[in-house]
Amino acid sequence: MPKKQDRRLNVGVLGCGPIAQFAHFESAVKACNVNLYAICDVAEDLVERMGNTYLPQKRYLDYQKMLDDPALDAVIIATSDAFHVPASIMALNAGKHVLCEKPIGVGVEEVEGLAAAVAKSGKVLQIGHMLRFDPGLEAGRAFAQDEMGQQLAFKAWYCDSTHRYPMTDAVQPLPILSASARKPTVNPKSDLKRYYMLAHGCHLLDLARYYCGEITEVNARLNEKFGAYSWFIDVDFTNGCMGHLDLTVAIRMDWSEGLTLYGEHGSVAAKTYNPWYYKSSDVEIFHEKDATYRRPLGADGHFYRRQLEGFADVILDGAAMRGADIQDGIASVRAMAAVAQSVQSGKSVRLSDVSGLV
Ligand SMILES: NC(=O)c1ccc[n+]([C@@H]2O[C@H](COP(=O)([O-])OP(=O)(O)OC[C@H]3O[C@@H](n4cnc5c(N)ncnc54)[C@H](O)[C@@H]3O)[C@@H](O)[C@H]2O)c1
Repeated sequence: MPKKQDRRLNVGVLGCGPIAQFAHFESAVKACNVNLYAICDVAEDLVERMGNTYLPQKRYLDYQKMLDDPALDAVIIATSDAFHVPASIMALNAGKHVLCEKPIGVGVEEVEGLAAAVAKSGKVLQIGHMLRFDPGLEAGRAFAQDEMGQQLAFKAWYCDSTHRYPMTDAVQPLPILSASARKPTVNPKSDLKRYYMLAHGCHLLDLARYYCGEITEVNARLNEKFGAYSWFIDVDFTNGCMGHLDLTVAIRMDWSEGLTLYGEHGSVAAKTYNPWYYKSSDVEIFHEKDATYRRPLGADGHFYRRQLEGFADVILDGAAMRGADIQDGIASVRAMAAVAQSVQSGKSVRLSDVSGLV
């Protein structure tokens, strides 16, 4: 485990639900440059149970009270999507840095409003697109940026499996749930198409942008059968690379996630595992100059802890932001909204032309 540094960021986690239990509490306890300073939830039973397990210095039932604590430096927002923007704005207004779960928001206007709040606050806001901290994917991306030359074509796929829960139940801790947990007024799963796009599509779109840069336009088709949804999305990147993204929930086979990128001086191919295995993607980087593959091991596959350490590095040491920032968040929300509009209209949609909810 990484050794704790002397200088550490005091972090408070908002939300003691499954994602905090599966990822953020342990990440904050293990991160070399972070203290799990506080936890907060309106559900008292969750706060008590998680407090006794992870031993934060402070426990809160009221988010504003946690934000009023002068010793708190930053928050991790681990709540439902609909609460991300309001909770982030409250934290920024209180002078706290923010690491917020993905997707950063559910509509174009609200995330643009958040961008204004980030700029006004001068604080750091990073989005929990943790694939950017998968060491295999990071190595592939470094090659794509520094050595690949021009990019020709990119394919990526995120295909959830019908067998996902038996697999993840086997490796995750038992989630502790509470009848008092705060939920959005509209159940996010009441519209599954939208839910899958927000929950999973945002990872795929952010990964595409992480490798190939800005997306200008999308042309998307959706096929819906036997309770399964499959989006095939053609993507144009500013750099002239063409892209194809496949989001399918759920396939009748094992989890399937990965990418290929063909460039001038080589290629990258990646197979990504379900995140709860905490395993770095298997990545092969082919160098045309010596016709050789490189295959990084990526031994430390705890991308949730690594994203938190990266976030703390930005704040404590002024390191460059390696995670997704608010502009990346706006771009992926615009891309999700553009995909939905393109499915509806059957036409290509420019990201700069979209507005409204995803
Ligand atoms: N990065 C990933 O790989 C990944 C994986 C799974 C989920 N997620 C994200 O995590 C989020 C969902 O997390 P979850 O399933 O744990 O959510 P959840 O809704 O089950 O739990 C959230 C908790 O936050 C509490 N809460 C909400 N608002 C609060 C407030 N204002 N004050 C105090 N407590 C408050 C609720 O009471 C609840 O206990 C989603 O945004 C989802 O996209 C990310």
